[in-house]
Amino acid sequence: MRHNQLLNLTYPIIQAPMAGNILTPELVAAVSNAGMLGSIASGYLSLTALEEFILKVKQLTMKPFVVNVFIEPEQKTPQILLKPQLIMDLERQLGMPDEPDFTLPATIPQDEYINLLLKHNVPVVSCTFGLFSPDNLLRLKKHAVVVIANATNLAEVHAAYQSGVDAIVLQGFAAGGHQASFINNGQCNQLSSLELLKQIQSLHLAIPLIVTGGINCANFTQFLAAGANYVQLGTSFMLSNLSNLDLTHQQYLIRQSSNSTALSQNLTGKWARGINNQLMQQLDQCAYPFPIQHYASAKLRGFARNHGLFDYTGSWLGQHASYAIQSTNDLLQHLINCYISYSNVVKPGDS
Ligand SMILES: Cc1cc2nc3c(=O)[nH]c(=O)nc-3n(C[C@H](O)[C@H](O)[C@H](O)COP(=O)(O)O)c2cc1C
Repeated sequence: MRHNQLLNLTYPIIQAPMAGNILTPELVAAVSNAGMLGSIASGYLSLTALEEFILKVKQLTMKPFVVNVFIEPEQKTPQILLKPQLIMDLERQLGMPDEPDFTLPATIPQDEYINLLLKHNVPVVSCTFGLFSPDNLLRLKKHAVVVIANATNLAEVHAAYQSGVDAIVLQGFAAGGHQASFINNGQCNQLSSLELLKQIQSLHLAIPLIVTGGINCANFTQFLAAGANYVQLGTSFMLSNLSNLDLTHQQYLIRQSSNSTALSQNLTGKWARGINNQLMQQLDQCAYPFPIQHYASAKLRGFARNHGLFDYTGSWLGQHASYAIQSTNDLLQHLINCYISYSNVVKPGDS
């Protein structure tokens, strides 16, 4: 299947949605303007902030882009909960004031996301940590929105395919940030992107497969050669200059990456890959499931980020052979050059 069947992109390359104040409209638009697909992350944003982000991206590009939505358990009203003792101890260690509780905010109803995305004619929508309700999926499809689901195993791929999505992201265990799991999600995904791709290819699904996790400029063509229709890169874009991560944080990630990344579910209640720093080592228990544990540790992680105490931040990073900080334009150009060399070798119809 040719990559341009689904989205008519010049290059079969997607910038991963990354929630947590990582992305800028300039980054997303630069990717789409380069003939790839930029993604907005709606996770942890209010609807107003999301709308502003979408409008800025639309000012900067006429090309398609994605909005990614978290599928979370419904929380109708905000709730005050007790902060786990271990998190309070860590906060005290950093000199933060004692606050024995934290607020679990109400979730934004899925319908309201869909209303906003349709209002702004968002061309591509993706979901993670679950699937859209059948009604909402139907609403998106009626408006010819391309819908993408994230999956980490065979059962999730089956569920996503049966629901009628247009493409599936296969997320391997090297991926930075949270595992997208929604079936048996207490279990950590141990499959590499390539293993997952091979498993799912044997199903011969009639929709494109997007592969993500540990993919960068140096290796993305291997995944295309193995039959992926698209590749999705997160860490590489996070380490580029149009990301919202400041240079000192990016430099910290590069310095610490030599100690390797690790997976933990204790920071947020869901398996996530990042730098195996002091926070990951000291926060060795999980009191609440996702997203409650995320909100329980949010103040600590936010304080650490604002004060440059990166050893106590949730420093999400994919597992790669090497990392580099570079300009977003150089990264895009490098991806284009590698893709052109690759497609000159692979004859049309081979992929
Ligand atoms: C900081 C960070 C935040 C992320 N946030 C999201 C998100 O909001 N939604 C999502 O679907 N995936 C999210 N991911 C996962 C990416 O979509 C993707 O699976 C991952 O970046 C791929 O691995 P790589 O970082 O090695 O390229 C995030 C990843 C990182 C590194």
